[in-house]
Amino acid sequence: MEPSLYSSSPPYLRTTADAYDAVAVRYAEFVRDSLDALPLDRAVLAAFAELALASRGGPGAGAVAGAVAELGCGPGHMTAHLRDLGLDAFGVDLSPVMIDLAREAHPDLRFEVGSMDALDLADGELSGILSWYSVIHTPPREIPSYFAEFRRVLAPGGHLLLAFFESEGEPVTAFDHKVTTAYRWPIDDLAGLAREAGFVEIGRMLREPRQDERFRRGHLLMRMHE
Ligand SMILES: C[S@@+](CC[C@H](N)C(=O)[O-])C[C@H]1O[C@@H](n2cnc3c(N)ncnc32)[C@H](O)[C@@H]1O
Repeated sequence: MEPSLYSSSPPYLRTTADAYDAVAVRYAEFVRDSLDALPLDRAVLAAFAELALASRGGPGAGAVAGAVAELGCGPGHMTAHLRDLGLDAFGVDLSPVMIDLAREAHPDLRFEVGSMDALDLADGELSGILSWYSVIHTPPREIPSYFAEFRRVLAPGGHLLLAFFESEGEPVTAFDHKVTTAYRWPIDDLAGLAREAGFVEIGRMLREPRQDERFRRGHLLMRMHE
């Protein structure tokens, strides 16, 4: 644990980091090949990658920055998937143990300990952000400040892909996630907060839970105003 990151932060960040530190090895094993059986998830990631690549260059393209960050990258398997899709990807996570595992598994990629609500990145530095089930532990009242930080570090025209647990007709709801408290969101509510932060929706994908999953999955693909 790096005290400087947590000393002045809200307690839920330390709780989340400690909880993921404790389960990191088992979690990494559990998710390592998970995308293999999820064609719809791969499809939405491929769409994000294609858009992020296109927005980097070409005449009239808005975003000129190159890098794509996976924020809340855990053991780094999704960051590696983005790299395999052609992106210049790196990962950031609260949990130092997760970051150690990510560096060990993917020594060719960059991983840093940090919180996605206070990134050590310059304004407009990124052409894309992937948040794959990583804002699920964020208390709902904090989400606007997370989206404001995403907006700050994205170049105009940059892309954001969010994956989360959908609330299936209920209002935003806390639930007993296996690692630490998490929240299920109505897709319209999360899309609305992203719009208020300056994002434009490109599209969305809902996926029903598989037999081994509890909840419907939500995916929002957004672009920052040019
Ligand atoms: C459910 S895991 C998802 C990990 C990875 N994206 C995946 O799909 O396997 C959530 C991750 O988000 C990280 N996380 C939660 N809040 C964070 C924050 N504020 N900043 C950075 N990472 C955070 C946790 O430490 C954890 O590794």
